[in-house]
Order: sequence, then C-alpha cells, then structure tokens
Amino acid sequence: MNKLINFKINGISVAAQKGETILTVARKNGIYIPTMCYISKTSPCASCRMCVVEASGVEGFVLSCNTPPTEGIEIITNNDALQNERVNIMKLYDVNHPL
Ligand code: FES
Repeated sequence: MNKLINFKINGISVAAQKGETILTVARKNGIYIPTMCYISKTSPCASCRMCVVEASGVEGFVLSCNTPPTEGIEIITNNDALQNERVNIMKLYDVNHPL
C-alpha cells in the first residue's frame, strides 16, 4: 500500500502519492503555481525557474516542478519575494528577446 505524504501548501493540508512533485500536488488541489517549461507527462527539465516556491526549513527557493514534498513541510507559492524572483526571471528572458 502506498503511504501518503501529508504537507501544507499555503496553509491548506494536502497529500502526495510517492513520485508526485509539489507542483503536481498543487495542481491536483487547484493551487496555481506559474510555469513555463513544465509539460505534464514528461520528465521536468527544470530550466525556467518560474515555478519557484518557498519551503519551510529550506534556505532559498525550491523548484516545485521537480521537487517531491516531505512529510509535514509547509510550502508557500506566492509572496513578495517569490513575485520579485519571477519578475526578475522574466526580465532576464526579455533582455534578449527579438520583439
Ligand atoms: S516549470 Fe520550469 S523550472 Fe519548474
């Protein structure tokens, strides 16, 4: 029998099956995390960094598309720091964009 991993996203209790990532659990529960490079049903290439989230006990940001949750961890998907990080990522992409 597959043991569920219980954790929280934005204060909401959720559960993951073995092999699921923070992003897949968020989507399953209707919680939005922005992505650019993620394509479901393929292995995550984890290259755009738009899916960053904060995780309790972890310094810096975590890529939700390729990180499995751990029991009891608390994930934050949006706050000022994450918003700034995503804006800065988009600015870097736009610097060399032909349009
Ligand atoms: S969706 Fe691109 S790095 Fe996670």
